[in-house]
Amino acid sequence: MQRTESAALRVQALGKSFGDVQAVADVSFEVRAGQVVGLLGPNGAGKTTTVKMLTTLIPIDSGSASVAGFDVAGQPAVVRQLIGVAGQGAAVDEKLTARENLSLFARLYKLPGSLRRQRVADLIDRFDMESFADRPAHTYSGGQRRRLDVAAALVAEPPVLLLDEPTTGLDPRSRADLWAAIRELAEQGTAIVLTTQYLEEADQLADYILILDGGRVVAEGTPSALKRDLDRDVLQVQLTEPGAILRATSILGQHGQQVISDPTDSQTLQVAVGDDATLALKMLRELQDNSIALSDFQLRRPTLDDVFLALTASKDRVSKEA
Ligand SMILES: Nc1ncnc2c1ncn2[C@@H]1O[C@H](COP(=O)(O)OP(=O)(O)OP(=O)(O)O)[C@@H](O)[C@H]1O
Ligand SMILES: [Mg+2]
Repeated sequence: MQRTESAALRVQALGKSFGDVQAVADVSFEVRAGQVVGLLGPNGAGKTTTVKMLTTLIPIDSGSASVAGFDVAGQPAVVRQLIGVAGQGAAVDEKLTARENLSLFARLYKLPGSLRRQRVADLIDRFDMESFADRPAHTYSGGQRRRLDVAAALVAEPPVLLLDEPTTGLDPRSRADLWAAIRELAEQGTAIVLTTQYLEEADQLADYILILDGGRVVAEGTPSALKRDLDRDVLQVQLTEPGAILRATSILGQHGQQVISDPTDSQTLQVAVGDDATLALKMLRELQDNSIALSDFQLRRPTLDDVFLALTASKDRVSKEA
């Protein structure tokens, strides 16, 4: 069997279109054993399409990918033995219980009987599924289903793991538990690709991040490098009166900086102030001069959210100018 190189997962110029839609274009990255790579992007960015190509579920249109040196397109059967996947709409049987589903996966991967029972019991314990493990999956809550999906991906202890939005719909405690499980797997040497819409999740878990938008990589790097490259502090203010938000937005925006508001929070505004602390002070003074009361303010380093918004904002500007 042909084995060409040793990176756990190597993706080169991967592309896929559905009719007119270029779902994935020219995406390249590598994952080594023990590394977590995050694919971050909004709805429709191409995350699931990338995962599906890597797991042999859909054909690759252009470019190539290999798992432990085995070509995904050329040796799909070998590749399937080397990867675990927890996808959006994963392949668990709704009529079976969690224990039965996990046992079925263990048999599919040809684990011997004794190991099979042990592995299933370990996973049920690790993901805290004991209370529902013996009733059918169609009765599970969304979060219980997600836990079963991820546990099923781990049955064969694959060297490469692909997790497509593993924590969507999980409550904060379940999310924290899953983050811990993912970190532990990476420490034990699993190469992990994680897709997420949660910037905080990528920041917490990923050693390296690719930000996808419209199927393309719009930025990549370590979380700290992505934040450092942005090189701008953020002034965040909390208004006492929600009614003052429009006036406050126009005052904060008069130095040409982009003012960002959160649609779900009518009292918080953020504005990028570069590394100029005096500009932040000037803005606070101007709010005060206009009798806009603040209940809180903060000057902080950029988060990945800011990186993401900055990338989308600059793209908007380009498209408006064009
Ligand atoms: N089978 C298909 N037929 C046609 N278009 C498709 C198909 N699958 C995906 N697409 C399109 O490809 C693009 C990328 O979709 P994809 O599912 O990869 O996005 P995503 O990043 O996973 O989004 P989400 O965060 O919503 O899960 C979208 O525009 C989507 O509509
Ligand atoms: Mg998706």
